[in-house]
Amino acid sequence: MNWFRTQSHGLIWLIVAFAIISCSEDKVGELPADVGLKDYYAPEFLIGAALNRRQITGESTEQMDLIAREYNSYTAENDMKSMHIHPSRDEYNFDVPDKLFELAEKNGAKVHGHTLIWHSQLSRFIREIEDPDEMRQTLTDHINTIAGRYAGRIDSWDVVNEAVEGDGSLRESVFYKVLGEDYLTLAFDLAAAADPTADLYYNDYSMTGEAKRNGVIRMVKKIQENGAKIDGIGMQAHWHLETPTLEEIETSILEYAALGVKIAITELDIDVLPNPRNVSGADIGQRAELSDEINPYKEGLPESVNEALARRYEDIFRLFKKHEDLISRVTFWGVNDGNSWKNNFPVRGRTNYPLLFDRNNKPKKAYHQVLQVKSGV
Ligand code: XIL
Repeated sequence: MNWFRTQSHGLIWLIVAFAIISCSEDKVGELPADVGLKDYYAPEFLIGAALNRRQITGESTEQMDLIAREYNSYTAENDMKSMHIHPSRDEYNFDVPDKLFELAEKNGAKVHGHTLIWHSQLSRFIREIEDPDEMRQTLTDHINTIAGRYAGRIDSWDVVNEAVEGDGSLRESVFYKVLGEDYLTLAFDLAAAADPTADLYYNDYSMTGEAKRNGVIRMVKKIQENGAKIDGIGMQAHWHLETPTLEEIETSILEYAALGVKIAITELDIDVLPNPRNVSGADIGQRAELSDEINPYKEGLPESVNEALARRYEDIFRLFKKHEDLISRVTFWGVNDGNSWKNNFPVRGRTNYPLLFDRNNKPKKAYHQVLQVKSGV
């Protein structure tokens, strides 16, 4: 077995080495059909993508090869959130999630589950619960049914998403209001019982801010003290060209990892557009008005910004590589610029460029720079 693993690892590296030699900057678009970022970064961490429904079901025919080539971890962008997977008490929709597993298994990729407990995109019947016993029973049914169905097949779960506010306090979600902070330990206990093999994560945005970081650390310590199994912390990483700084990112990775958990970068994208003044973080409840001033690249991305994006991605991946022993996975929130949620958040109808592939699925300079961190070419 060990011999086989060494041999197959050697083979992958031979293919990767061949790809490096045969691919110069202007030929990135012509990478060998089956070699992608996932292969370059295989020794460090998984490379993932959030897939939308058309990608999961294979309707986005023009993207299916790219998805198979570049990523070895898939997250459903929306289809495993409660409003979709468990819209009413006795109704579960497993069709699309099941297809995600089929696609992943066909492509040899892992599946990351997003998300069991979240106050947003929450099914209405859960939002309306007021009685603690009913809430406990509902969370039990929800987690047992969903995590139980994919037990043994899923790699990891975002058990709880976005439970902490910017100031470090616990968010007053319906779960908190009805059960107090005990809902956190309960959720992790239920997930561990339903699937003892999956890695269990806490996931959130704006994870580099000091006050929020301290709040997350306090919360995770408490979950650990209560004896629950928590394997990792997910940093969503909806970042910008200039913020957060590399220092802030590095400090956060180190401080979270000091809790003895894995770090995953779970929803990476880099917003290149001006930030509306009243919005910070990735709270999907926030919105701002569309104007020309905050939508400057409707006709295309200026080369200077394309280059700034490439440098930003390069810097970030150098940092991730430096801390490869702490990082389990880096997932991009979307495949190409055209299907990124950042075209509609926090302002609807903008033209954004946050990912490594353009609207025609061609690798951007940023793709090459991320590759370059590994290949040195
Ligand atoms: C976003 C999706 O990308 C959008 O399609 C949807 O309309 C709203 O949610 N934090 C999360 C993700 O944890 O689930 C969110 O995804 C982005 C912010």
